Amino acid sequence: MDRFEGRRVLVTGAGSGIGRATVLRLLREGAVVAAADVSEPGLKETSASAGAGDRLHTRVMDVSAESSVREGVAAAVTHLGGLDVLVNAAGILRSAHTERTTLELWNRIVAVNLTGTFLTTREALPALLASRNGTVVNFSSTAASFAHPYMAAYAATKGGIQSFTHAIAAEYAKRGLRAVCVAPGSIASGMTSNPGLPEDTDWSLLAKLAPALGPGFADPAAVAGVVAMLASEDGAFITGTEIRIDGGTHM
Ligand SMILES: NC(=O)c1ccc[n+]([C@@H]2O[C@H](COP(=O)([O-])OP(=O)(O)OC[C@H]3O[C@@H](n4cnc5c(N)ncnc54)[C@H](O)[C@@H]3O)[C@@H](O)[C@H]2O)c1
Repeated sequence: MDRFEGRRVLVTGAGSGIGRATVLRLLREGAVVAAADVSEPGLKETSASAGAGDRLHTRVMDVSAESSVREGVAAAVTHLGGLDVLVNAAGILRSAHTERTTLELWNRIVAVNLTGTFLTTREALPALLASRNGTVVNFSSTAASFAHPYMAAYAATKGGIQSFTHAIAAEYAKRGLRAVCVAPGSIASGMTSNPGLPEDTDWSLLAKLAPALGPGFADPAAVAGVVAMLASEDGAFITGTEIRIDGGTHM
């Protein structure tokens, strides 16, 4: 498929898991990609997986830091010569009993997941609007709509990302911009390999998080394919909504 021939894409969280899988998928479909992540080693691995090629540009960027996002997005837009697609995949998961969640931990999760999505989108909007066919794909989670114990802060950020996405979808639709969310669940990645659950976790509360489709957690490519569909012409009539990719965990 060459759905992304000539399309200029910025992916955050590109140094691991679903962000990396998205970079590889969009490169295979012909995109020119700027891959951003706070982890330089992660970006190096992504480059190595992508193989040699001049369609991938990597950049260290901390989505929770305004100056880093400003510089990172500007550099990506300059390098790509514009921007057609933004994929906001950067995120962190930290688990804790809510009564033991410090303000520092709460603020950190909000800063990366919710504020990071806002800052990157805000900085990318002028270029996305100039493209006249721009798309933003944001990362919600099944945690936004279905109870995930010990993850209240994380879940709140993912609900916020959905609301943010709906708002910008309405605000910019007449200017040719689409904004959509994916809501993954049970995907094998850096974050799910170590969710940091409390030592005294009541596992009966988490039993319903097992996917109906086996054999276990899915490969990140399962989400990357949906991101590619949403960001391509195949998703041209989809905006202001989310698609759940969780193997039927929440049927
Ligand atoms: N894996 C799942 O089952 C699942 C479920 C729901 C939602 N998600 C969402 O998918 C997205 C991708 O996560 P993943 O599962 O691939 O996890 P991951 O941990 O493998 O990847 C997350 C990436 O984000 C990067 N990152 C963290 N903080 C950053 C910052 N401040 N600035 C820039 N980059 C930063 C990390 O370095 C990492 O490369 C996240 O938004 C996550 O919340 C994942």
